[in-house]
Amino acid sequence: MRPRLSIATRLTVLFATVATVVLAALGVAIYLSARHDLVAQDFTELENKVALIADLAAGGAAGQRAQRLAEALGHHPDIEFHIIDEHGTPLFSTASPLLRKHARTQPADLAVRRHDWTLADGSCLHVLHLRQPLADGSTLTTLLAIDDARHAAFLQRFRHLLAIAIVTAALASSLLGGYVVRRTLRPLRALSDEARQITAGRLQRRLSADAAPAELEQLAQTLNGMLARLQQDFARLTEFSGDLAHELRTPITNMLTQVQVVLAHPRSNDAYRETLASCAEELQRLAQTVSDLLYLAQAEAPGALPSREHVALEDVVDSLLEFYSLLAEDRQLQLRREGRASVQGNRLMLHRAIANLLSNALQHATAGTPVVVTLEEAAGQCRITVHNSGTAISADILPRLFDRFHRGERGHTRSDGAGLGLAITRAIVQAHGGSATVTSGATGTTFELLLPSRPATPSA
Ligand SMILES: Nc1ncnc2c1ncn2[C@@H]1O[C@H](COP(=O)(O)OP(=O)(O)OP(=O)(O)O)[C@@H](O)[C@H]1O
Ligand SMILES: [Mg+2]
Repeated sequence: MRPRLSIATRLTVLFATVATVVLAALGVAIYLSARHDLVAQDFTELENKVALIADLAAGGAAGQRAQRLAEALGHHPDIEFHIIDEHGTPLFSTASPLLRKHARTQPADLAVRRHDWTLADGSCLHVLHLRQPLADGSTLTTLLAIDDARHAAFLQRFRHLLAIAIVTAALASSLLGGYVVRRTLRPLRALSDEARQITAGRLQRRLSADAAPAELEQLAQTLNGMLARLQQDFARLTEFSGDLAHELRTPITNMLTQVQVVLAHPRSNDAYRETLASCAEELQRLAQTVSDLLYLAQAEAPGALPSREHVALEDVVDSLLEFYSLLAEDRQLQLRREGRASVQGNRLMLHRAIANLLSNALQHATAGTPVVVTLEEAAGQCRITVHNSGTAISADILPRLFDRFHRGERGHTRSDGAGLGLAITRAIVQAHGGSATVTSGATGTTFELLLPSRPATPSA
């Protein structure tokens, strides 16, 4: 497994590498430029000497040329001279035999040309080798050479100095870079410290986005948004578990009390039977609540829709109206369907969603009034409404009607159910990509389900 390096280490290594490479390249450039200048200087010096030799040879008596040359050039130990007149007589020579031997193999130039010669012993020389015509018509063959090793000591010192400077600068910039990187990343560490403080019990805390640099501000804001959603969901979950415990406790307490009372004294068989029947009723309700909760959890889970099929809603509604017809008759209600519509969805789930609305409507409708289910299809949407006349639901509880365990106000609108029917309906509709709403007023209560006729994308 590759070692995981921190951002600070990565940046520091990068910084150090870049600094070292740049400084090394700069050092090499400076060194090469200095070396080039020194060689150029050497050649300029040789060229000056060529001019001087021409002057010395031309001025004065021809017989004293050698003496004049020796006087003028004798104190240049760095330069090797070998000057021969047109008869091949050496006028002035300080050149080594090896250089002279090499010169014999090289033709002399007619104009000044710079040469680099490598001799048999491996030494490298900067050389001018030329035939100089003089004013009196005679010619000189002039050989001038400077050993390249003349600047070796200086260049070696220069190299050392450059190497030390580069290493020191690279080290200093790495340390400085490391310090700057760590300092720059401090807000990130502060953010992570803050995030560590946030626990389930302290979900109301937020990360301080204002103090963070611009790059981190957005991250902090995004995380804060996520925290807000988590806090909301967590509160809902806490409330739900509280409600759930309450819902389950009541029937269990009821049964326990009844059983304890009956067991306190010997009773008749009828009394036992009655208690058992009452317990069975409570257990029946409990089982219903638990199975509703399970269904709700499944409907709310991602991918709740196992498959979609073509569902003719009028068929679903008609079968439901038939199912509820006896109950409606009992309550003197008229059941009616208007319109038709079809969707791509799950038949059983849609059946249950509409059944929940119908059972509520039948329960809360005023006797002698109609309960109407309307189906409409327009603009790629399918609209299902269930309307019943009855006492209006107060506006402040309307938004909470679809919440789990919400059973309306105490009084005549409060039902005996578990308060899960509408929550299940909404979960089913949302699994189909739709929405559920309710309006209530003097004319009655209308629940509306909006479903896309065809799903835009396959359900998740
Ligand atoms: N058509 C309606 N008219 C008036 N109030 C209604 C109507 N439909 C629902 N309600 C109110 O909304 C509450 C929640 O309804 P929901 O169907 O979720 O639960 P429930 O009917 O009480 O129990 P469950 O359906 O789980 O047996 C009901 O208790 C009732 O107070
Ligand atoms: Mg209900």
